[in-house]
Amino acid sequence: MSQQQPVRIAPSILSADFSALGQEVEAIDAAGADWIHVDVMDNHFVPNLTIGPMVVKALRKHTKKPFDVHLMVTPVDPLIPAFVEAGADTLSFHPEAGPHVHRTIQLIKHHGKRAGCVLNPGTPLAAIETVLGDLDLVLVMSVNPGFGGQAFIASQLAKIAALRKAIDALGKPIDLEVDGGVNPETARQCLAAGADALVAGTSVFAGGPATYAANIAALRG
Ligand code: DX5
Ligand code: ZN
Repeated sequence: MSQQQPVRIAPSILSADFSALGQEVEAIDAAGADWIHVDVMDNHFVPNLTIGPMVVKALRKHTKKPFDVHLMVTPVDPLIPAFVEAGADTLSFHPEAGPHVHRTIQLIKHHGKRAGCVLNPGTPLAAIETVLGDLDLVLVMSVNPGFGGQAFIASQLAKIAALRKAIDALGKPIDLEVDGGVNPETARQCLAAGADALVAGTSVFAGGPATYAANIAALRG
């Protein structure tokens, strides 16, 4: 039986106005965002430097929606307690950055939070196959991590479809999320392949606050 859930939209605040992040988070909340996606980059695992736990903590009082925190950092374990303390709800990490994938999942769960693994375009499903049943979420990267505004890599649709099968075979409603180059057209392709959560930066924030609700609605397929 398919475990695919109704689509959740997670706007990535990487594309927001950083000089007014609190208001931006309030605006996407009001515009119908399901989750708030926070891209954490360390200039080591990925070639960019973004948001730390202090910023997440400061944003926590601007929304009650779940924070979907995407950790592009290595090593990842030492930062998990600080992001939990800051108010993260889901913490996702790249298996290459662990490096002890099972241990990191247990650490996130020990803190009572939802655990996710992220697959880069070049990383096979096999990297997380043995821990899939321990996860709350799998995030498929449809761009190489590090920057917003990149083009969707269509070859990742086959990985989404394979993950949909693996999740359905387990019989657990593990969230299957896609991140990178998601716009109304690629969103439809992701949902058809079996995704049930979509991250979008550029396509949500382009146009300014007056357009956020329509931009989010357009991704629901
Ligand atoms: C890239 C980030 C994405 C990024 C997506 O490393 O993980 O979340 O913000 O941006 P768009 O939607 O512009 O591709
Ligand atoms: Zn992301």
